[in-house]
Amino acid sequence: MKVLSLVGARPQFIQEAVLNKEFIKQGVNEVLVHSGQHYDYNMSYSFIETLDIKKPQYFLGIKATTHAETTGQTMIEFEKIAYKEKPTVILVNGDTNTTLAGALVAAKLKIPLVHVEAGIRMEPKTMPEEINRVVTDHVSQLLTCPSKLTVANLKKEGIVNGVHLVGDVMYDLFLAMKSNFDLEYHKKLVLKENNYVIATIHRDYNVDDPHVLEAILKQLSLISAEMSVVFPLHPRTKKRIKQFGLNKYLKKLLITEPLNYFQLMGLTRNTYKVITDSGGYQKEAFYFQKQAIVVMPDTGWRELLGWNYLADSAKISSLIYKKPICIPPQDVYGKGNAGHKIVSLLKKSFQ
Ligand code: UD1
Repeated sequence: MKVLSLVGARPQFIQEAVLNKEFIKQGVNEVLVHSGQHYDYNMSYSFIETLDIKKPQYFLGIKATTHAETTGQTMIEFEKIAYKEKPTVILVNGDTNTTLAGALVAAKLKIPLVHVEAGIRMEPKTMPEEINRVVTDHVSQLLTCPSKLTVANLKKEGIVNGVHLVGDVMYDLFLAMKSNFDLEYHKKLVLKENNYVIATIHRDYNVDDPHVLEAILKQLSLISAEMSVVFPLHPRTKKRIKQFGLNKYLKKLLITEPLNYFQLMGLTRNTYKVITDSGGYQKEAFYFQKQAIVVMPDTGWRELLGWNYLADSAKISSLIYKKPICIPPQDVYGKGNAGHKIVSLLKKSFQ
C-alpha cells in the first residue's frame, strides 16, 4: 500500500507529526507532499524540524495568495504527483485550502480519499474552512473523527459509511511531546506564572474587517492593564494591522513572531488563560486544564463549551475572570492513540 499525504499549513504539520511516525512504525509507505501554502520558516519548516517530521519528498512551492490561486495551483501540481506516484490512497487532514485541493484531486482521479479530523461543523457556513470541510467530507471514503459530535454531524448529512471515531491526533502529539515543552519560556519573556494571557488571532472574519480587528486590539489593550498579554502575530494579522494603521494598539502588548510548538505549549502550561480563534489551540489549552476565550461566533469543539467561552470581538475582556461552569472529561478527544487507530484502519481498508 502506498499513501500519498498532502500538507501545507501550520496545523497540518502538527497532525502529520503523529501520522508520519505511525506510518513508519506500522511499516506503511507514505509519500509526503508539502503544498507550500505556509512558507514563512516559523509557519512551516520550523514545525517539520522541531517535530521531527520526515522531509517532504515533494514541495510544490504554492505560496498562499487568493483562495482560488492557492487551491487551483495546488491541484494542478498535486495532480501531476498523483499520476506519477499512483498511490493506493490519498490522505488529507484538517480544513485548509490545501486540504480541499488534495480532496478534489483524489475525487477526480478516483483515488480513495482519507480525511483526518472529519465531521467538524460550525458557523458561519461562509468561512473558508467550513466550505473546505464540507466538500472534503462529502468526497472521502474513510473519515476519521475526533469526537462523538463530529460523527453525529456527518450522520446529519447522510455520511455514515467509512466513518470512524478515533480521537484527536493533536492529543496524541500533546502526550507524546510533553517532556519536550519549553516550560521556562515565560521567563525568557520576563513573565510571571499565571499572570499573563496568550492571544492568537488570525481568522478572516476577525482580521480582514478593520472595525473588528480594532475592537479586538482594544480589548487586548484593556486586558493588558490587568496582566501581560502575549500576542504571537500570525502573518495575515500582521499584514492587516499594518494595512489598517492599527499599530498604536500593539504598544501595551508583548508581540512575538509565531512560536514553535514547544515554545507555545511551554508558555501555555504557565498562562492564566488563552484568547484565541484557533481551532487547535482551544483544545490544547484544555489539555493543560486552561480556559480559552474563543473569539468566534461558534466552535467545532462544542464539547468544551462551559469550560471555554465564546466571545464577541468587542467583549473579550468581560470574560477574563469568568470561571468555568463544567469540566469536560479529560478523554473527550480519545486516549492519545488516534494516530495508531488511523493507520490501522487504513491498512485494514486498503491493503
Ligand atoms: C490557514 C487556514 C486556517 C488555519 C491557518 C493556520 C485556509 C483557508 N485557512 O489560514 O484554517 O487555521 O492557516 O495558520 O487554508 N502568510 C504568510 N506567510 C505564511 C503563511 C501565510 O505571509 O507562512 C500570509 C499569506 O500570504 C496570506 C495570509 O498570510 O496573505 C493568509 O494565509 P492563508 O494560508 O491563506 O490563510 P491563514 O489565515 O494562514
